[in-house]
Amino acid sequence: AQLYILYILLYFLHFVLTQLRNRRSTMKYIKTNYTILDKFLDAVKTHPDKPFILFREQTFTYQEADALSSRAARVLLQSGQLREGDTVALMLANEPMFVWLWLGLVKIGCSAAFLNYNIRSKSLLHCFHRTSAKTLVAAVELQDAVEEVLPSLLEQQVRVYLLTDTCQITGVESFKDKMSRVSPEPLAKDLRSHLTLQSPATYIYTSGTTAAMITHGKLWAMSFLQHLSGVNSRDVFYVSLPLYHSTGFISVTGAIERGITVALRSKFSTSQFWEDCRKYNVTVIQYIGETMRYLCNTPRKLDDRNHRVRLAIGNGIRADVWREFNNRFGNIDIKEFYGATEGNLLLMNYFGKVGAVGRLGVLTKMLSSYAVIKYDLDKEEPLRDLSGFCIEADKGEPGLLVSKITARTPFSGYAGDLQQSEKKKLHNVFEKGDMFFNTGDLLSIDADNFIYFQDRVGDTFRWKGENVATTEVADVITLADCIREANVYGVKVAGHEGRTGMAAVTLRDGNKFNSTALYRHVENLLPAYARPRFVRIQNSLATTGTYKLKKAELVQEGFDPNLISDPLYFLDEKKKNYVPLTVDIFNDVTSGQIKI
Ligand SMILES: *[C@@H]1O[C@H](CO)[C@@H](O)[C@H](O)[C@H]1NC(C)=O
Ligand SMILES: *[C@@H]1O[C@H](CO)[C@@H](O)[C@H](O)[C@H]1NC(C)=O
Repeated sequence: AQLYILYILLYFLHFVLTQLRNRRSTMKYIKTNYTILDKFLDAVKTHPDKPFILFREQTFTYQEADALSSRAARVLLQSGQLREGDTVALMLANEPMFVWLWLGLVKIGCSAAFLNYNIRSKSLLHCFHRTSAKTLVAAVELQDAVEEVLPSLLEQQVRVYLLTDTCQITGVESFKDKMSRVSPEPLAKDLRSHLTLQSPATYIYTSGTTAAMITHGKLWAMSFLQHLSGVNSRDVFYVSLPLYHSTGFISVTGAIERGITVALRSKFSTSQFWEDCRKYNVTVIQYIGETMRYLCNTPRKLDDRNHRVRLAIGNGIRADVWREFNNRFGNIDIKEFYGATEGNLLLMNYFGKVGAVGRLGVLTKMLSSYAVIKYDLDKEEPLRDLSGFCIEADKGEPGLLVSKITARTPFSGYAGDLQQSEKKKLHNVFEKGDMFFNTGDLLSIDADNFIYFQDRVGDTFRWKGENVATTEVADVITLADCIREANVYGVKVAGHEGRTGMAAVTLRDGNKFNSTALYRHVENLLPAYARPRFVRIQNSLATTGTYKLKKAELVQEGFDPNLISDPLYFLDEKKKNYVPLTVDIFNDVTSGQIKI
């Protein structure tokens, strides 16, 4: 136990020193409005020939990245449609061009909205219009998705680019050929003369359609994660998570902060993971709980420990997977952190305590003001005492994590959605007039002050690394002819992180449940991770006194046909249909025989 205390003290010292160092550079950055782009341009000066991005067989140095991003910026400028402060929507998978476009946009004082490329049709348009973007740049493999919404975009005078050399579609312009025709020279700084740390750097969608505004200041704060985790200038960082999410994106901006090399992969692949680590000499990997589990589930290999990975940074790893991962792939230091894209706090497990996301210390509490408060699952709101204030949860009791909103820890809200932004704020938490950010996450703190993630609450759930907004799924389902109302929630499935989607529905009078129709409907309108895996047909949906749909009981009952008498259906990917959920199917899903 004494050794443990020594460890904690050492980590503490490290933490305080890095915090102070960061604080000092932060002060300098604030005074001069020094952005990640400025850091990048300085890195280009100090190590122009150092590899910045490795992608497939290609290597791009810092200098080459600078030139390519200037070219991208010039193409966008020449369209004549962009002015400083404008936003451009980007829709592409992980590829170097993603980074060139973002850097290029900041060079001309603009920002980017990162569209999730799995989203289609109505949802895509909805996401696009969440920001004020009047320009869309999309990858060539997304041509069909673009064409589907093109009439509507053109009607709204949106300029649409496809990342190709030639393009025959009316109303769509090619981008790459134009890039090769413009100058790679640096762009004048006056093009971004109004840029401050309060200006938007990106818009990142936190669930289907809510876009969190990430200012340049916030981006700095998030980009220190690698620094805090002990990444040094010789490291090579492997990124295979989508760049349109904050976790993926800040691994690139964090790499710029550290001046290191990023090995970028278009999509996570279990079979290629360690091959890539060996090929690119990767020393730091990034994870979510799912990817670590997938890696542990592969057959053992003789060269499992043949790699140079020393550090893993991410979130959501289960305690059993953590142990298994270390047993199998060697003593890789796992730095588990907790942070919401739109949130205003970051927790980090410095101590290597298996399963925890951080530790509540006196100092961390002083540096950022957060609390875990008692939460009423049925009413979906915090519990309040007789004077109307919230109550801190007991040791070991899961409660809602809230974080105080102050000038130093601001909450920038969602683009064009005041109502959603307001919903994330809690007022009068511990005293009259205070304001906290509601993370929507349940955490618990144990007797040794270690903090553990428990669950998501409220109207989103997490599945396969994506946040799914229940109301958006319900809106889609109720468009199906036979469905009257839908109540969507997430249910736990043994062996999986997060929750998978389930919908309790009622049918329109005189209608039978048309499974093919519903399947086609969700397949057309929802990305795979958001499609409800289970459907429960009810005569009526239970509501609370305030006409909110009741979820807690449904969530608790899950999808077990042994317990539920309502008709249940299962989304069968092979049959491309919803099929009756039999006890056999239930057993196969919970034992992992059927992969979902
Ligand atoms: C990886 O390291 C080896 C040995 O140090 C070196 O020969 C090789 O070029 C490196 N590969 C990359 C992609 O940097
Ligand atoms: C179910 O929906 C499909 C597709 O919309 C339709 O073709 C079919 O006739 C419907 N079946 C019944 C029994 O209504």
